Formats: sequence, structure tokens, C-alpha cells
Amino acid sequence: MPHDNVLIFDTTLRDGEQSPGASMTLDEKLLVAELLDAMGVDVIEAGFPIASNGDFESVREVSKVVKNAVVCGLARAGAKDIERAAEALQPAQRGRIHTFISTSPVHMKHKLQMEPEAVLDAVIASVSLARNLVDNVEWSPEDATRTDHDFLCRCVEAAIKAGATTINIPDTVGYTIPSEYGALIAMLRERVPNIDRAVISTHCHNDLGLAVANSLAGVAAGARQVECTINGIGERAGNAALEEIVMALKVRRDLMPYDTGIDTTMLARASKLVSSVTAFPVQYNKAIVGQNAFAHESGIHQDGMLKNNQTYEIMTPESVGITKSSLVMGKHSGRHAFREKLRELGYDLGQNAMQDAFNRFKDLADKKKHVFDDDIVALVDDEVARGNDRIRVASLRVIAGSEGPQEATLDLVVDGVSEKVTCTGDGPVDATFNAIKAIFPHDARLQLYQVHAVTAGTDAQAEVSVRLEEAGKTVTGRAADTDTLVASARAYVSALNKLLVKREKAAPSAWVASS
Ligand code: KIV
Ligand code: ZN
Repeated sequence: MPHDNVLIFDTTLRDGEQSPGASMTLDEKLLVAELLDAMGVDVIEAGFPIASNGDFESVREVSKVVKNAVVCGLARAGAKDIERAAEALQPAQRGRIHTFISTSPVHMKHKLQMEPEAVLDAVIASVSLARNLVDNVEWSPEDATRTDHDFLCRCVEAAIKAGATTINIPDTVGYTIPSEYGALIAMLRERVPNIDRAVISTHCHNDLGLAVANSLAGVAAGARQVECTINGIGERAGNAALEEIVMALKVRRDLMPYDTGIDTTMLARASKLVSSVTAFPVQYNKAIVGQNAFAHESGIHQDGMLKNNQTYEIMTPESVGITKSSLVMGKHSGRHAFREKLRELGYDLGQNAMQDAFNRFKDLADKKKHVFDDDIVALVDDEVARGNDRIRVASLRVIAGSEGPQEATLDLVVDGVSEKVTCTGDGPVDATFNAIKAIFPHDARLQLYQVHAVTAGTDAQAEVSVRLEEAGKTVTGRAADTDTLVASARAYVSALNKLLVKREKAAPSAWVASS
């Protein structure tokens, strides 16, 4: 009998980080992992250890800091992948290897160029090897929703026999619909003789906008783990959004009587953090965590809300951690009040990070009359994003205005060495970016430059996003400052730092022979 608990498997750090432009530094990944752990996520997929030294290190370091959740590393079906994943997971209190291979006709023929029987042999060999290295093994038939049912049943049965404890059924290309996906899970439960020895998991992509609906249909049919990401980030159109899955289960417990271990009051904070470290904005009308998710504009709705908030709200903003952005402090606020405010906003910073954040808060309060919660969040996230960056903006002076040419004098520190240049450009932003290029030459192309104000008012902090593309790899940097040009320079430099991290990541091939 299925029990009434649904495990939440978060893959923000793996599938989420595969979103074009969404790379995270090690420090950022650790911050996200700690938050997910504190929020009550059951499994954190921390990366794909064979993909690069950076990914290996991330999985290893996440394994060290996570206290409660199972930490998971992804591996293709080859021995090298699986052994590398096991090595990265060694420090974890509870580690899981997630190994996968494609099972659909189109993938087996064109991507793997393998016959089905060879794929089945690879399933048995890979799961057996993984199970020799760790107790907790998840197996996924990639492109399961386009796989022949008889073959899928044979593979799932073989994987469980070889030691898989979780069977994940990915809708890799976001092709299925809820009734079909639910029927697929039900079919596996009915036809695979040893299915009760494994937890069935969903992993739905959002190409048709159905990822959450499909995942919930999977749960209704007996799946007891859902793979999802914060803000729904992930390959192409993304994955099922964690906050939507969790709140749907909570709000409609009458129809879906399943619990998750998630502290839902941390959802808004997690959304902001992931948006900040990936520099992916959250759409205004995004369910649960969008800026408008609890906003009532029309007179009729406002009137109803004043009479009783249940007229137009099916959950309270507080239940997902959204509180009104309040006026917090000014330049006379002390360290103690600042620390309390950080705690209230969900930050638990170490001594040095706290001191840095406090110094920046004091600078901001000197420039800006009113400091709001959103200002503090932007400021701390911005500080965290700097982490161990190789390139840093030391100072910037810009001449702007209607009389060209506009000019930027920039002092940049690269690997500890400071260099200063003055460059002109077609406007102050162009001049600033030309100065960065003069000190740190690179071929990356600017794909996006976007500015938005963190709060209202002409003294608001500007939050700038910059997306760069180099040889098919995209990265996004973000920074906030009361000076739009300083924020622009720092956002560009942040994207460059991410590019340096991403350069070492090789494109993985489809299949690694068991060498
Ligand atoms: O979408 C997918 O098929 C995946 C697998 C690696 C599980 O991400
Ligand atoms: Zn996926």
C-alpha cells in the first residue's frame, strides 16, 4: 500500500543548473544546498560529478554541509561516471547515486546507437556497480514517456533486481499529458512484479507547460517521490516547480492526502535566492512566488479581500513566506538590529559575511533614505554572489551626458592584480563594458542587458542582469547598487567570473563504455 508521504527530490543544482545561462559558483551552490536542507527537502541532487572538476567539487562540498537530506550525484551508465559519483559522495552522511540510460527507440537508435538488449545489459551492469558502492541507488530510463511499455517493464524489473531502490520515470522532453503519465505509473505498478521494492519517482519537463500537472498525476497513480526545481528552472522550458508541487499538495490535501516535509514559509526565500544566484528573474505572475501572486488590483477583488481574505486567496502569503516589504532601518540602525533583520529574512551568516553585509548596509543607508527588506535581500545576495571571484571591480568613474564621447575609468582587480584604464564608448554602459574588455580581453558576446529597480524612488538600488555567450555556453551575472553603472560593471564582471568556471565543463557524450 502506498504510504501518505511524498518525498521531495530537488534537482535545482543539477537539472536546474543545466538551464542555458544558469551556472552557479561553488559558494552559491552551497548556499542553495543549505537552504534546501533547512527547508526540509528529502533529496538534493547536487550535480553530475563526471561533467567537470567543478561539478565533482560541488557534489563533494555539498555532501559535507548537508545535515539531513540525502545528497545525490548523477552518473551515466559507464563505470567511470559511477565511480566518480561515488567518490564525490563519500563525505555525505547519506549519499545516493542516480544512474540513467535512454530507453526510447529514438534515443537508443540515434543517440546511443545501441540495440535494446545491449541497453538492458548496461542497466544491469550500471545499477549493480552503483549498488556495490552505495546503498541508495536511483535508476532512470531517460525518455521513459516515449519508451515501449514492454521494454520499459523489463528494464525497470531488471534495475530493481540489480539493486535500485528508486525508479524514476522521466518525461525528458515534456511530451506527456496528465492522464497518460498517470496511466504509465499505474501500468508499471501493475506489471512489474518487484515494483513494491522501490519508490517510484516523477521527473517531468515543462515543454507543454504540464510538468506540475503531470507530476501530480504521477503521485495520484502511486509515485512517492517528485523531482522538481526551485522556480521550475531546468533544461529548455524547465522542470516541475518545487513550490507549486508542494503548495498544490498542501492546499488540496482534501483531494491529494499526501504530506511533504517542506517548511513552506521558506519557499519565497528559496525562490529569491535561486533567482539571485542564477540571475534568472521570476516572472511577475509566477504561481506561489511571483510578485503578483498575492496582489489584488481590481476594485471588486480589493473589496472582497477587505471583507474576508478567503474571497480571493486560497492560501495566505505568509504560508509561503511572503511578508509585506517593510521599512526596516536607516543609517542609525545598529549591528544587533541588522542581525535580527537578517534572521527574519532567512539568512544565517557567519561572522565575516555578517560584518561585510553590515558595512554594505551602512554604505547603502548613507546613500538611500529608506532601506526596505527587498534592499537588504538584494544587498546580501549580491555580496554572496561575489564569493571567490577571480575578477573584481575596485572602482569606476564615468562621464555621461549629451556631449559625447562618454568615458569610463575603471580599476579592475584580476587574480589580485589591479589595473586601471580609461575607455570611451557609445554611451556610458558601452564605455564601461569596453573598459572591462580592455583589461580582461575575451570573445564572449553580450546577449542581454537588463536593469530593474529593487524598490520605488529615484534613490532605489538598480539590479542589473547581464548575459554573455561564448562558444555556445551562456552565463548570466547580476548585481545591485544605487549607481546603475556600478551595478552594470559588477553584473558584467560577475558573468565573466561564471564564464571562467563554465569554460572547463566539457560537453558529455551520450554513453560511456564501461571503461
Ligand atoms: O530529463 C531527464 O531525463 C533527466 C534524467 C537525467 C533523469 O534529467
Ligand atoms: Zn531532466
